[in-house]
Amino acid sequence: MRRVLLFILLVLPFIYLIITVQDANDPIKYIFTYTGLTSLILLIGSLCISPFKKIYNLLRYRRMIGLFSFFYAFLHFMNFYILDAELSLNFVLKETLDKPFIYLGMISFFILFLMALTSTKKLFAKFNKWHKFVYIVLILVVIHESMAQKVLSSLEYSFIVVTTILLGYRLYNYKKA
Ligand code: HEM
Repeated sequence: MRRVLLFILLVLPFIYLIITVQDANDPIKYIFTYTGLTSLILLIGSLCISPFKKIYNLLRYRRMIGLFSFFYAFLHFMNFYILDAELSLNFVLKETLDKPFIYLGMISFFILFLMALTSTKKLFAKFNKWHKFVYIVLILVVIHESMAQKVLSSLEYSFIVVTTILLGYRLYNYKKA
């Protein structure tokens, strides 16, 4: 039952996007911002589960939250490929090579894609060590998000602080083990 509720909760941003995009002045930019931020927030959410597991154990929901983070990243990529690049592979290649923040996004998306593919029970048992790459994704996406802004705001600084804390926690645990 809780899983179903979480699923509905995670689908709600998508429904909200469909409703609100029609009134957006610049739909492509709107979809970039909306899907990018939703994906990043869910990624951070999935990584916050482990530090808080002793207080509130939500480990069984981590996979679903991670998969939804990938889903919103996928919409973000589709917005780039279908609406922005108008299906032109030349445009995708040129933007990726010309703009460092785009290739950081591409690398992050590729790693997230591999993690989503190997997230089934059977494959996760085999590839779980590789899932530590999620921290690399987090760093790259926070840089990607910051580089997409003209001026950094408190949102970017918050992402940087949260990322530093999560990495610190991870390294501390790693050294302890
Ligand atoms: C597939 C590769 C990716 C491409 C081609 C891409 C492309 C872009 C572009 C063009 C922008 C700037 C939008 C604008 O302001 O006009 C952007 C912003 C952003 N992207 Fe990506 N991105 C990719 C991957 C990702 C991933 C994997 C995430 C999150 C997990 C992400 C999160 C964000 C965020 C949070 C922003 C800032 C949105 C804003 O404040 O406007 N991106 N991306």
